[in-house]
Amino acid sequence: MNCEDFPMLKQNLIYFDNGATTLKPKCVIEGINEYYNSYSANAHRGDYSISQKVDSMYEGVREKIKNFIHAKESSEIVFTSGTTDGLNRIVFGYFKNHLKENDEVLITESEHASNVLPWFVLEKEIGIKVKYIPLNENHEVTMENVKRSITKNTKVISLAYITNVIGDIRPMREIIDYAHQKNILVVGDGAQSISHLKTDVTLDDIDFFVTSAHKMYGPTGIGFLYGKFSLLNEMEPTTYGGGMNAMYLENGYMELREVPTKFEAGTQNIAGVIGMGCAIDYLEKIGINKIMQHEHHLKEYLVNKLKQLDNIIIYNETTPGSIVTFNVKDIFSQDTAVYLDKHNICIRSGNHCSKILNQVFSVSNTCRISFGVYNTEKEIDYLIEVIKNIGNIWQEIL
Ligand code: ALA
Repeated sequence: MNCEDFPMLKQNLIYFDNGATTLKPKCVIEGINEYYNSYSANAHRGDYSISQKVDSMYEGVREKIKNFIHAKESSEIVFTSGTTDGLNRIVFGYFKNHLKENDEVLITESEHASNVLPWFVLEKEIGIKVKYIPLNENHEVTMENVKRSITKNTKVISLAYITNVIGDIRPMREIIDYAHQKNILVVGDGAQSISHLKTDVTLDDIDFFVTSAHKMYGPTGIGFLYGKFSLLNEMEPTTYGGGMNAMYLENGYMELREVPTKFEAGTQNIAGVIGMGCAIDYLEKIGINKIMQHEHHLKEYLVNKLKQLDNIIIYNETTPGSIVTFNVKDIFSQDTAVYLDKHNICIRSGNHCSKILNQVFSVSNTCRISFGVYNTEKEIDYLIEVIKNIGNIWQEIL
């Protein structure tokens, strides 16, 4: 569906790597070009009309995001460079000042590196403990295991809404509800969910939420962080400079601006913000529920076809969603990916930035197909035909 919206697809290309990044529709590219071609001024720094247009476009996107994720206030939205940046700001800007030695943070072995490494650094810096909620036999989080993992020292649970290798959808609302009864804060990594699952931070009552625009048909290098206003008010910036200060003196005294401006030091990625706004318009026009149904159907279709082949191992057959992780028996995942590339099929192979998961997964490298709005059954049929001929791999790739 919607293939004609994506200039990249004019090439003879099958793009199955949407978990890594999505292709960009014309409206996003045009939105960015229009900024550079006709009103390319800075934001919040000028008194002339094109600069004011930039201010209103820039703040308009904040409002759009507020509506898109159902936040209460647009001031609860902070522009970041992406999910990794958002998680780092939360860990070092908020939790570094609110956790103490022996406080526990619960994550899982299937989190992405960006939801693991910042916590490891905090473990070294202030002595918190990083603990893992055990995964069940399908590598999923269960409420029972969440409850069992919580101790009197648990202060934070930080989880992806959807993981990037298994593609399981976590029962976040239930987890958050239970966590709040125990005064535990919850951080949600929305990198893999934002364009596949409806986000409602208010209904979920999540404390912090982060995501990237490039995973939702927007540009790279831009994303946003949501935090409840009271938490953002207590969060420190991790970057200091122009735009975020109200005043400062020679003796080192400084006053910062209000939330969210105090978190946006220096000239921001204005073109990125505008492109992200266009991506949200695009997603809303199609509708997240429709995208979700389309991708779930494609996953089912692909899994059924792969199961008919006797040389395929599927690692996440039971999870819903848009990700299929597999290997072709006796072929290293990267060789499979190079072979598929010879047929203009793009997939991801390797450990997918989730290196701990691979330690419990029994294989260290897998192939991953992750669907987006433009993928079709016909593309899957072609993929299956190509995989059926994988006996030719060495003639083709060596
Ligand atoms: N985190 C991205 C992925 O899963 C890059 O591919």
